[in-house]
Amino acid sequence: MKVGIFDSGIGGITVLKTAIELLPQLEYIYYSDNLHVPYGTKPKEEVIGYVKDVVAFLVSEGAEAILIACNTATSVAVKELREIYDLPIIGMEPAVKLALDDNAEGKVLVTATPLSLKGEKYKNLVAHLDHKHRVDALPLPELVTFAETKNFDEEMLTTYFKEKLSTLNLDEYVGIVLGCTHFIYFKKYLEKILPKHIKIYDGNEGAVRHLKECIGAKESSKKVEPNIIFYYSGKKCETREILDSYLKLV
Ligand code: DGL
Repeated sequence: MKVGIFDSGIGGITVLKTAIELLPQLEYIYYSDNLHVPYGTKPKEEVIGYVKDVVAFLVSEGAEAILIACNTATSVAVKELREIYDLPIIGMEPAVKLALDDNAEGKVLVTATPLSLKGEKYKNLVAHLDHKHRVDALPLPELVTFAETKNFDEEMLTTYFKEKLSTLNLDEYVGIVLGCTHFIYFKKYLEKILPKHIKIYDGNEGAVRHLKECIGAKESSKKVEPNIIFYYSGKKCETREILDSYLKLV
């Protein structure tokens, strides 16, 4: 089974990493749309156009299922894609349910791109789950650029996070949701500066498990070299150098 996975850039490699750990027997085509990254600060219609082009390309390359490893792309385009294609299309969703269910009380802070947070999909999710008004949102679009440029300077990131969180009373929060796949690269930096009682959640494993169910795949612990074709900036990469360098960062 050939699975097409894509993101605006390298954020979705964090999802690919979970996929190859749980389902190493599948074939993957990963498409990083670096020509158009970031999606999260662009108008919705523009992003829908990019996403449709990427999916059409993956399908033309033989993808039999699509995993949208991007919360922003899922938010704006998953409905339309499911109307166009008759194949399993799995999207990402900020792990709000996981965070709320894990804690009976306390607030949850959802971080994502501006486009995701202002989308209908996110608003509906929160309206459906957050009956006690425990969910707040914080856009962190700069993290996408930091990840794309491999800017993981700890001092700069500490200053950045402290400033972004400075207006919040962190004692009130029990969880932070990473609602953008690029943000996963920064988990370890966030962990260092957050109070110990705050847990960090993401939707990566949930999305891969959903893929598994949709295509009827079996989880495998077999050690096989994963079969991955990697497209970066519209071109097929003949070596795994870029891909491996990001897989190592997760
Ligand atoms: N990685 C993406 C997400 O999960 C989008 C980042 C961007 O291109 O702004 O939302």
